[in-house]
Amino acid sequence: MCSGRVDPVFVLQAFEDGADGVLVAGCHIGDCHYISGNLQTKERLENLIKSFEILGIEKDRLRLEWVSAGEGQKFQQLIIEFTKKLRELGPSPFNKKVIANPTGGGV
Ligand code: FES
Repeated sequence: MCSGRVDPVFVLQAFEDGADGVLVAGCHIGDCHYISGNLQTKERLENLIKSFEILGIEKDRLRLEWVSAGEGQKFQQLIIEFTKKLRELGPSPFNKKVIANPTGGGV
């Protein structure tokens, strides 16, 4: 219900489960229905990104954006841009299929 519910462990689990990228979209700053959930997520994910280099995950594989339900075009553009970026990056090094078959796979 709120981006504040996104625990960094969920993000790491998604990568471990084979996601090439994770997009967390929350309400605009000041619009969170739970007052500060998006601010807490921002802080948690910024801290998580700091560990990405150690984990071998490109920081561009995680994106945090503020987008409201009334911003369909913005959301569409966001998905297009993020998908393009993930295709440029290629499969995540954590993707179990890539690890099992390093010459195959894809985004
Ligand atoms: S309700 Fe908290 S970010 Fe949307």
